[in-house]
Amino acid sequence: MRIDVVTIFPEYLQALDVSLIGKARREGLLDIRIHDLRDHTSDRHRTVDDTPYGGGAGMVMKPEPWALALEAIAASAADADDASGARPVLLVPTPSGTLFRQSVAQELAGADHLVVACGRYEGIDERLFEWAADLFEVRLVSLGDYVLNGGEVAALAMIEAVGRLVPGVVGNPESLVEESHSDGLLEYPVYTKPSSWRDRDVPEILLSGDHGRIAAWRHDQQLARTRSRRPDLLPPESVESTETAGPTT
Ligand code: ADE
Repeated sequence: MRIDVVTIFPEYLQALDVSLIGKARREGLLDIRIHDLRDHTSDRHRTVDDTPYGGGAGMVMKPEPWALALEAIAASAADADDASGARPVLLVPTPSGTLFRQSVAQELAGADHLVVACGRYEGIDERLFEWAADLFEVRLVSLGDYVLNGGEVAALAMIEAVGRLVPGVVGNPESLVEESHSDGLLEYPVYTKPSSWRDRDVPEILLSGDHGRIAAWRHDQQLARTRSRRPDLLPPESVESTETAGPTT
């Protein structure tokens, strides 16, 4: 998979050199390229922002440097993208986007080419997204209901969430099956040795060797946790009142 990231802070993306994603890059599973938006400006100050029409606080990113950066990326990938038949996905992290969830990460893991546009300030001139729809499948996505200073941290999270689903990036693919959100529920609690630690024991059942009962217990734990911590993930009819749901970990 190829991933291009456009930002005014390329150094933010250095985290992509580290750990599993860094290793996947070195092994050629992920071709990640970081671009400085300011390389696509033509004035002495390398200006990427200006004041908002209509007034208001803050600055807005000018569309032209973005268009030039995105055109250069689209041109450099044209042969590969034409062969795959699909337009690259332009991922724009923004608090006003749709929610980036595991199902979105799974969908994006099937793409050949992602381009991530990291905005700053009050965002990017809206016309850029209309223009970009000719070249890209444009998706505005939010990490959650809070505001970051820019798209870079969100881009890191999204690239890690997508990248680890690309076959070969995570050594043991089974670890992707039983994790939180893979089946719409939170993950069950996990324990390791010693079986007794500071007067706290690992639940008996996990030491029983009875794989059927262990699987059933884990599923109950997933449901109880999800009901108590994230009832919004469950269909409304399955969210019981807390009196009947019983204690959770
Ligand atoms: N940029 C600023 N805040 C963001 C958020 N919550 N999600 C994605 N991108 C952002």
